Amino acid sequence: MSITSAARTISIPVVGAPLLEVEHLSVSFPTSSGPATVVRDASFRVDQGTTLGIVGESGSGKSMTSLAVMGLLPRGGTATGSVRLFGHELLGRTDRELRRIRGDRIAMVFQDPLSSLNPYYTIGVQITEAYRAHRGGSQAAARKVAIEALERVRIADPDRRIDHYPHQFSGGMRQRIMIAMAICLEPDLIICDEPTTALDVTVQAQILDLLADLQRQTGTGMVFITHDLAVVSRVADDVLVMKDGDEVERGTTEQIFTAPRAPYTRALLDALPRIDDPFETLKGVQA
Ligand SMILES: Nc1ncnc2c1ncn2[C@@H]1O[C@H](COP(=O)(O)OP(=O)(O)OP(=O)(O)O)[C@@H](O)[C@H]1O
Ligand SMILES: [Mg+2]
Repeated sequence: MSITSAARTISIPVVGAPLLEVEHLSVSFPTSSGPATVVRDASFRVDQGTTLGIVGESGSGKSMTSLAVMGLLPRGGTATGSVRLFGHELLGRTDRELRRIRGDRIAMVFQDPLSSLNPYYTIGVQITEAYRAHRGGSQAAARKVAIEALERVRIADPDRRIDHYPHQFSGGMRQRIMIAMAICLEPDLIICDEPTTALDVTVQAQILDLLADLQRQTGTGMVFITHDLAVVSRVADDVLVMKDGDEVERGTTEQIFTAPRAPYTRALLDALPRIDDPFETLKGVQA
């Protein structure tokens, strides 16, 4: 992956530092009865070209973990601990610095592309604006980059489609457009928060394959958040299991799936439908 822009806020990786290193990350919000901690002491790392899956039930703190990494916590939220990108501490940076780092180095793909895309502008306007805000250059150059990115996420006829509005695309296509927007800036890290949850399984599989292809081509690191262990097994090299804001277990995908240590992880695995047993039903649902 080329790291060319002199404007990048973090331009020099600390020698030997991993892409992303999170240590003892806690996130809390003030409440009338004192601070409520929604993420407690989470630690993990992501190396270039690898994917960390963060898995856990609803409310377990997956999104808050990733938003803390991005410096995008909702109002009132505070993060403590350490979040280092190429060895550079991100916690405690100003909003302005974080905005730069986000566009330059880290991209995020959310569950609902419609909430991230503005219905009143063509996708071309939105992709090129995001690109030029960080990389500058002419409108024509940005449009060329955008068309290439649309091609990479397999939007057919990108020269024409770039001038269409979000509502003229299907849900799966819109998610691919968000991915195109993310990869335009050649980020070092892409954080995907349930990017395929709203999609049907066929489209979900296409998006997962696409992300894997892009990762192979670019060496981008990825954090992939999902409540779906089957998706994790497909995309992740390493897995962090969370529950109620706590880290339950962390390991390689193989270890988590073949030799889970925590009873909670074993219960999650037991709830998965078994491919080798067609008569197996969703155990977790019956409980
Ligand atoms: N703005 C906020 N203020 C206070 N607490 C919040 C806020 N947003 C979320 N929370 C709480 O933080 C906890 C973790 O939420 P989070 O969104 O990280 O869960 P999640 O694992 O991403 O769940 P889901 O799978 O439903 O997306 C939850 O208990 C939630 O109620
Ligand atoms: Mg979430």
